[in-house]
Amino acid sequence: MSAMNPNANALLSRIHSRDARAGVVGLGYVGLPLAVEFAHAGLRVTGIDLDSRKVAEVSAGRSYIPDVPTADVAALRDAGRLDATTDFSVVGSLDTVNICVPTPLRKTKDPDMSFVVSAAEQIAAHLHPGMLIVLESTTYPGTTVELLQPLFEATGLKAGQDFFLAFSPERVDPSNATFNTRNTPKVVGGVTPACAEMAGALYATAIDTIVPVSSTQVAEMVKLLENTFRAVNIGLVNELALMCDRMGIDVWEVVTAASTKPFGFMPFYPGPGLGGHCIPIDPFYLSWKAKEAGFEARFIELAGHVNGAMPHYVADKVGEALNTQRKAVNGSSVLALGIAYKKDIDDIRESPALDVMHVLRDRGASIVYSDPHVPVLPARAWAGGVELSSVPLTAEEIARHDCVVILTNHSAFDYSAVVASAPLIVDSRNALGAGAGNHVFRLGAPAHAAPEPAVEAAA
Ligand SMILES: NC(=O)c1ccc[n+]([C@@H]2O[C@H](COP(=O)([O-])OP(=O)(O)OC[C@H]3O[C@@H](n4cnc5c(N)ncnc54)[C@H](O)[C@@H]3O)[C@@H](O)[C@H]2O)c1
Repeated sequence: MSAMNPNANALLSRIHSRDARAGVVGLGYVGLPLAVEFAHAGLRVTGIDLDSRKVAEVSAGRSYIPDVPTADVAALRDAGRLDATTDFSVVGSLDTVNICVPTPLRKTKDPDMSFVVSAAEQIAAHLHPGMLIVLESTTYPGTTVELLQPLFEATGLKAGQDFFLAFSPERVDPSNATFNTRNTPKVVGGVTPACAEMAGALYATAIDTIVPVSSTQVAEMVKLLENTFRAVNIGLVNELALMCDRMGIDVWEVVTAASTKPFGFMPFYPGPGLGGHCIPIDPFYLSWKAKEAGFEARFIELAGHVNGAMPHYVADKVGEALNTQRKAVNGSSVLALGIAYKKDIDDIRESPALDVMHVLRDRGASIVYSDPHVPVLPARAWAGGVELSSVPLTAEEIARHDCVVILTNHSAFDYSAVVASAPLIVDSRNALGAGAGNHVFRLGAPAHAAPEPAVEAAA
């Protein structure tokens, strides 16, 4: 197909010879690692972001994403292979553009496509023949052909002939020491076969394994299946944790033992709820689109209910733990350990820890937190009315609170110091394991401490 198309031939040969100029729109958790990987592969890469602070950092040769070493950004910038700008007019001189902007939900749980649309409009203003555009932002099936293709074709250029349009979902797993952008297989779907070929060629410069699929809709759906799979299985194991709590069985022991099955089982772990930019959000992109087709996505809705109730459940557990010492949540002091949405990262987006803190504060507790990855928590981020700063985890600090609640099990915490100094601990991540003491209450596991008996009124 491409042999017939001079635009395709020219672009392919520029990609193969590494003369292609690549652009990445949105230099966040997804965009910066991708830009760096393309630059490592020998392409000349320009990042475009509306956030002038990120552009300034890249231009100064510094990284702000933990998985991307500053030394890499500095070396690539010095070699003239990586730069950044807020100005979309650079698109006029680019051969390829990958769109990595946010796709959040509105309060109504409908997709908020405003970032994608605004980025695409800016790109369309500088679209030129022979250009490849790939959307990477997670989105509902149909976005590329229903939203982007008409927007770009309104310029008079035609997808598959004059320019090339594809979707390829990002699979970044922040802090994963084994899998990174390069060695994680990349699914690619094009609007036409030529579009798929162009996108596959671009990624092949920087990524070990390309997985072509037949359409952009399939590629969009692949990402939603992956994230819905996680949301539903986490919902299942969270429900099992609530069940085990009620039945006096240790859910963590159950999952660990079930994991010894060498086939047909994959462990998921309970916790205070879903967090991050993907798992709590993406399945609702799918259920929203399914509704348009008259289909009710019941697993997604149910998992949403179970997972969404977990922060309240953990807050209730803090109340139960305080109760054993004849204390109320109202007026108690609670130290929250770990507020990023998962272990060993700095990202607090959608973190369930913030919901637990918010609920406890609403019930009258005073809240302090410790998280070496999150030095400051803005007031609006936890709807707590005040900005908080992480406190150092000293023995005195631990001891001065009525209860410590472990919300994210960062490796950096000294858990033996927590066990030794805290009067009461609620462990929502099994960070302490079984047998850490009668003052430890684990989510989904039997409590060992009996409540202190009420003081009898004098007869
Ligand atoms: N973070 C992850 O682990 C992850 C994993 C897989 C997929 N995704 C998906 O990738 C997409 C991006 O996520 P992220 O985590 O990198 O987001 P992010 O918020 O870290 O980065 C997005 C960047 O886009 C910029 N931006 C917003 N609108 C823009 C515009 N119109 N023009 C130029 N720049 C603009 C923002 O300033 C920001 O720097 C989302 O759709 C997300 O669901 C994220």
